[in-house]
Amino acid sequence: MKLIIAIIQTHKLEFVKRELEAVDVNLMTVTNVLGQGRQKGVTEIYRGAKEAGGLLNKVRLDIAVNEDFVEPTIKAITKGAHTGNVGDGKIFIVDLLECVRISSAERGSVAIG
Ligand SMILES: Nc1ncnc2c1ncn2[C@@H]1O[C@H](COP(=O)(O)OP(=O)(O)OP(=O)(O)O)[C@@H](O)[C@H]1O
Ligand SMILES: [Mg+2]
Repeated sequence: MKLIIAIIQTHKLEFVKRELEAVDVNLMTVTNVLGQGRQKGVTEIYRGAKEAGGLLNKVRLDIAVNEDFVEPTIKAITKGAHTGNVGDGKIFIVDLLECVRISSAERGSVAIG
């Protein structure tokens, strides 16, 4: 199991969600976040207002998947979020130790999706 954390541009969320649905990834957590990449927000100002501390608004997706969904999920996010410009975002893949569905007490792979 992996936890896929993606930071994308806010206006790309609907495209990314559509691509994820196309590969049958429907369970996700979406959060509005502030961030900066290696340009420290500077060269992206024209595409979004700077917030406190010079940070930019971004969207974060948290998606827990079983192993066979890892690559399709990465590809779907990349396809939906890519423009080729700086600030397109980043994907972090983290080993996920456990998952518990609270309603049923199921654990592990069966609890993910
Ligand atoms: N190393 C990192 N650690 C934590 N968050 C990061 C990291 N790199 C990027 N982010 C997050 O991802 C967002 C988008 O990053 P961004 O796409 O600008 O990365 P980048 O490394 O600057 O690449 P690019 O040169 O293509 O812009 C940032 O605003 C920040 O929220
Ligand atoms: Mg950047």
